[in-house]
This record gives sequence, structure tokens and C-alpha cells, in this order.
Amino acid sequence: MQKIIILDFGSQTTQLIGRRVRELDTFCEILPYNKFPHDDPSVIGVILSGSPFSVYDDSAFHPDLTGIIGRYPVLGICYGAQLMVQYGGGRVEPAGLREYGRANLAWMETDNTLFSKFTNDSQVWMSHGDTIVELPKSFRKIASTASVEYAAYQVEGQRIWGVQFHPEVFHTVQGTQLLRNFVVDVCGSRQDWSSASFVEQTTRELKKQIGNDRVILGLSGGVDSSVAAVLLNRAIGRQLTCIFVDHGMLRKNEFRDVMHDYECLGLNVIGVDASRKFFADLAGVSDPEQKRKIIGRDFVEVFNEQAMKIEDARWLAQGTIYPDRIESLNITGKTIKSHHNVGGLPADMHLQLCEPLRWLFKDEVRRVGRQLGMPEHLITRHPFPGPGLAVRILGDITPAKVKILQEADDIYIRALRDYKVKLKGDEARRVLAAGVPADMHDGEIAVSLYDQIWQAGAILLSTVRSVGVMGDERTYEHPVALRAVTSTDAMTADWAQLPYDFMARVSNDIINKVKGVNRVCYDISSKPPATIEWE
Ligand code: XMP
Repeated sequence: MQKIIILDFGSQTTQLIGRRVRELDTFCEILPYNKFPHDDPSVIGVILSGSPFSVYDDSAFHPDLTGIIGRYPVLGICYGAQLMVQYGGGRVEPAGLREYGRANLAWMETDNTLFSKFTNDSQVWMSHGDTIVELPKSFRKIASTASVEYAAYQVEGQRIWGVQFHPEVFHTVQGTQLLRNFVVDVCGSRQDWSSASFVEQTTRELKKQIGNDRVILGLSGGVDSSVAAVLLNRAIGRQLTCIFVDHGMLRKNEFRDVMHDYECLGLNVIGVDASRKFFADLAGVSDPEQKRKIIGRDFVEVFNEQAMKIEDARWLAQGTIYPDRIESLNITGKTIKSHHNVGGLPADMHLQLCEPLRWLFKDEVRRVGRQLGMPEHLITRHPFPGPGLAVRILGDITPAKVKILQEADDIYIRALRDYKVKLKGDEARRVLAAGVPADMHDGEIAVSLYDQIWQAGAILLSTVRSVGVMGDERTYEHPVALRAVTSTDAMTADWAQLPYDFMARVSNDIINKVKGVNRVCYDISSKPPATIEWE
């Protein structure tokens, strides 16, 4: 299959470049800057990403571009563009002031392939501290902005371009067109990477890989494991056994509802209600780390007990997705995120790992889920932590506290689903580009608050009590904190700015309907320095 290689120099937007290329129905891989696959015949083009470094820093990444330049079409973005200038003998210097934000591009060559089909809207997004001050002899300036003379260049007679701005960022209005021009027109992508082709191809591969073996998969109710299960079910049917463990700290009715969904999807699922064991082992424990350890240990025990009953199981399937595996670089060049571990399964089961979604980004997983006919509410579910509500109850865990939190959380999540916001222009385009299903009417889309945010949930502050008054009664009960964040990968997150009328309604509903709660607060901390979960 044809592929574009994106060499990662550590920019925060490298993954975004990957997503944009995939949106052009073209397969791509993001690799560390020095790991170019010189022997891979399916490479059709190369993109060099941005970086937090300056090209003239001693510790900056300076891979040998021989074997890339002149052999493949190349697009350098920001640092990538500066690197090629330096490599070709030009000069890059500090820009005086770091330029960050919108700028307007003036094209010197409107007929340049890179700018093909451009309209007059010239807004681009800049984020750089250095600037190119002299191009090598064979490089030609093709665009400028008011403060950046060499905002884009092409190498004479070669399929090599550099842009100082970020075409992958949504604010570069014609960024997608620019990437299309490079990926499709220059590199010759056939654009045959789509959720339909992914499903067809992966089904074929899974059949071949697994043959007549049996496969075990742990379901969590989340999007990734559910899509992986449905895909495997399509490929190997009853050879797949899924295990869904209820530890008692799922959301209100979640075990019942998700089991029902799975059964409707034709999955072979064993649902295990192990809540008594978990509650018994957690009794009296309030230290967050200890709670997590107990839940992790119990989970493995319960899962293994079921897995061991499945004779001849040869494979353990997981819903690992691409961002779980990408080796992002931090500025010291160390890996900051690596492939998560399987953890805990008995070695004597000798299971091999099967990860059918390992090449997909989150939005692609959702598209594949739609392609497979899964219900929308399962596909758009927010991430939910493995230990469940246990990390959203401060202090020790009891079934009664879980019940209180389930009720408050249910009111909050339902309200987020019901509250629709109208969006238009840039905001609407961003939401649609992220794959959120919404119908457009008169240039506007209506999207629920739930679909606009990354993750939301309620937290029971059961170690805190405050005084309130209800009717003529004095109350002395617990507060509930509400959390909602926007994010793209959960590595960083911002608190979501929810409308006041929405918050007023939810607060009223929770205090009136949930016995044991007399106060509602909203968490306005971002990550970092806070985390998404409270424990
Ligand atoms: P934090 O709280 O670290 O959360 O900002 C980042 C993302 O990870 C989820 N999370 C977990 N997921 N097991 C999981 O499967 C866990 O122990 C766990 N802790 C946090 C969290 O919900 C958020 O999406």
C-alpha cells in the first residue's frame, strides 16, 4: 500500500499532520526523525515536521537527508523547511520576536503546484522563533508574509518544498488543499485508504493471521475495544470470545446497557459480575494508589479465571490504537510515550498479541465503527478510566457512595447529550473535520455539548461535608464536582467552558434529585498541572 512518511522532529502538531494525510485517504506513518525506512518500496513521499529546536542548536536533530532528498518528493514544515535550507547551505537565524498566530500569505507564484486550486483566502498559521534569512542558490521563494520573507520555497526543478507556516493546523485556511496538492498531485497518492478499504483489508488479514485459532478480547465498554471486537467478529465470528468484567464501579446501568449493545452486535461475550469481590477487597482503603493496585490485581484475577476456561486460546486481542504506539519525542529526544503493556496474563497461556487497530487514530476508529454499523452512542462514548468511578470518589469506596455518584453522573451526562449548541464557520468546520456527525442547516450545525468535549464526569467529594438547607431542614452532606475537558489525546487538556444556563440546570437537578449531595462545584483546572481524573 502506498504511504507517506512523516519524520517527527518533536513538534506538537506532528500527529495532526498524520491525521490530515489520512483525511486525504492516504496511508501514512509517523516515524522518529532518524528512522526513515530506506528499503520500503511503498513510500511515495516524505514530510518533515516542525520541532521545538532551532536548527542551529548543537543538540538539534540533524538526520542525514541523503537518500531522501532527490529520491522522493519532500515537504518541509517549519523546522523541516529550515533544516533543508541549512542542509542546502542557506541561513536560518532567530527571528527577534517569536511569531505565533495568524498571518496573511502573499504568493509570488500562483501557478506553483503547491498552491494549485487556491482561492483568495490567504490566512496561514505561524509558530516559529527562527526564520530563514538566506535561501541556498537553487531554492526559489514562492510566498511571503508581512514579517516572513521566505514563507514558502521550492527547490528549482525538484519536487521539494518548504513552508514556514503550518498547513496541518486548522487556522491555515487552505492547509488541507496544500497538503492535497502535495500528497495527491505531487506524490501521486491513489487515495485508496478509507474506512471501507481498511475494514475489507483487515478482515482478510485477520482471517489469514488467525486461521482456526481462538482469540480472547477484554471489553471495557469503550470505543477502541468495542470496535476491535466487532472487526474481529466480522473476520472470525465465534472463534472470538470477549470478556467484560463488571467491577461494580461502572456508570449507572452501564454493564446492562453495554452488554445489550454487544449482544445486538452479535458478539460472543461473557459478562462477569465481580462487583462483590472488588467491593470486599476495597473496603476501608482510601489511598488512591492502593485503590488502583487492588482494582488492577482483582481485574487480572477475574479476567484470567475466565480466560483459562477458553481452551486452545492462542491470541489475546487488544484495542490498541496508533497514538498509544507512536514514539513521540520530547526535546531531550527521549521517548515520552511508549506502547502500553499487556500486563498480567499468565505466561503459560502463551498468547500472541493481535492489535487490529494499531494503525488508526481515534477519529478513524470511530469511522471504522460507523462503517461496521455500530450504534452511534457506542462510537462517540467519552473515554472512561479502567478503575471506573473508584478514581472519582475521594476516600474509601462503598456501594452506597458509588450509587450516589452514579445518579449524579447520569444526570450530568444526560444533560450534556441533550444540550445542543449551534455552530457555524470555523467552529463548525473544526467539529465536522473531527468526524462528529451533525447535519448542516443554513450554514449552521447543531452539536451536543457531549460531542464537543473529550471527556466529562462527576466526582464525589466524600471526604468533604458542608452545611446546606433544604426546605426547613439543615443538611450536612457531600459536594459533587463536575469535570469536563477538551483535548485531542488526554496528554494535555483544557477545562471546557460550559454555558452558565446549562450548569445552573444540572446543579439544580443534582441537588434536588440525588440524596446525599447538597452542593455542586465545577472544576476549572487544566492538565497540566492538574490531571483529568481526580485520583
Ligand atoms: P489523567 O487523569 O492521567 O487521565 O489525566 C488521562 C486519561 O486516561 C484515563 N485514565 C485511565 N484509563 N486506566 C485507564 O484505562 C486508568 O487507570 C486511568 N487513569 C486515567 C482518563 O480517564 C483520561 O482519559
